[in-house]
Amino acid sequence: MRTYARKVNDMLILAIESSCDETAASVCKDGREVLSDVIYSQADMHREYGGVVPEIASRRHVEKVSLVAEQALKKADVGMRQLDAVAATCGPGLIGALLVGSHFAKGCAMALRVPFIPVHHIRGHIAANYVAFPSLKPEFIALVASGGHTLIAHVRDYTQMEELGGTRDDAAGEAFDKISRVMGLGYPGGAMLDRLGQGGDETAYPLPKAVIDGAPFDFSFSGLKTAAVNLLHNAQQKGTEIDKADLAASIARAVSDAITPRVLAAAKERNVKKIVIAGGVAANTTLRRSLKSACEQENIELFLPPLSLCGDNGAMIASQAYYEYLAGYVSGLGQNCYANFPIGQPIRDCMPD
Ligand code: KG4
Ligand code: ZN
Repeated sequence: MRTYARKVNDMLILAIESSCDETAASVCKDGREVLSDVIYSQADMHREYGGVVPEIASRRHVEKVSLVAEQALKKADVGMRQLDAVAATCGPGLIGALLVGSHFAKGCAMALRVPFIPVHHIRGHIAANYVAFPSLKPEFIALVASGGHTLIAHVRDYTQMEELGGTRDDAAGEAFDKISRVMGLGYPGGAMLDRLGQGGDETAYPLPKAVIDGAPFDFSFSGLKTAAVNLLHNAQQKGTEIDKADLAASIARAVSDAITPRVLAAAKERNVKKIVIAGGVAANTTLRRSLKSACEQENIELFLPPLSLCGDNGAMIASQAYYEYLAGYVSGLGQNCYANFPIGQPIRDCMPD
């Protein structure tokens, strides 16, 4: 097993993110200072299929990953040899897509003889807040709402966290994307539904709110998704009109009504006075507004990252990689990738070579 001189300050990490349809790379110093953050989005390519096609995503990552990494180094004005470690998302996500980014990163780490740091994608989303708020430190309650996940975690420390609840079926983003597709708005739908709903009447279409007995922090969004889709299909069959702005506003209200009280209840139960939000759905206007007013009322400090750091990016992976490294979670070339992985344990599955 190779041993590495442990460095804590001025630590330059190149991180690769390729868990879904963004090929991203970032160079960060000490987990907080973003020197570059390059994102290549494949959304245009997947749009014609109405969602992400895993095989196409992997192939596009292969074509783009070295280019994106080179750009990240150039923008950061950092030479390969100056890097202290290379990191990559190893899950959760699309396996083929993850393997492309992680193998590229492992190759770089091996060539440079620096550590390889595997990073959990959801831990990365949370870490986007360390980039956005330089003085933010755990402990806090985190809401992560994205296309693949909706969960609430108690983040005790940078690498110690506990999932308090999550979705039993669809993620919030998945529901937004499916409804948007049926409405003919295209992919990805969350941001488009958000924009469409501004000014709409959020009480126009009552939608179901799921409560899961005995699991106060769990979610279910499939009933909401099905109800909205049925509404649209029924209107189409009967030839009646649906006010799309009102429906979009009602959906956003239903999602934030499901999320806001659960996040506040989690903070109350754990007696934590800080909440951070993360993931693509954290960009949602209604959700942000609703959390802001609830936190003000309860005297809880709320961290709302800028929209640019809500969706997938490399900086969030570079930031979390620094803290995984400090905790000793460096891995070897045999590190695998995982479609699912609990947030509560590091994603490292082997020791450095
Ligand atoms: O975190 P992310 O970029 O990728 C995953 O890890 O899944 O999240 C993407 C999801 C998509 O479902 C997209 O529709 C949703 O985030 N999204 C939004 C908004 N912007 C992106 N959902 C609601 N409102 C938005 N403004
Ligand atoms: Zn994500």
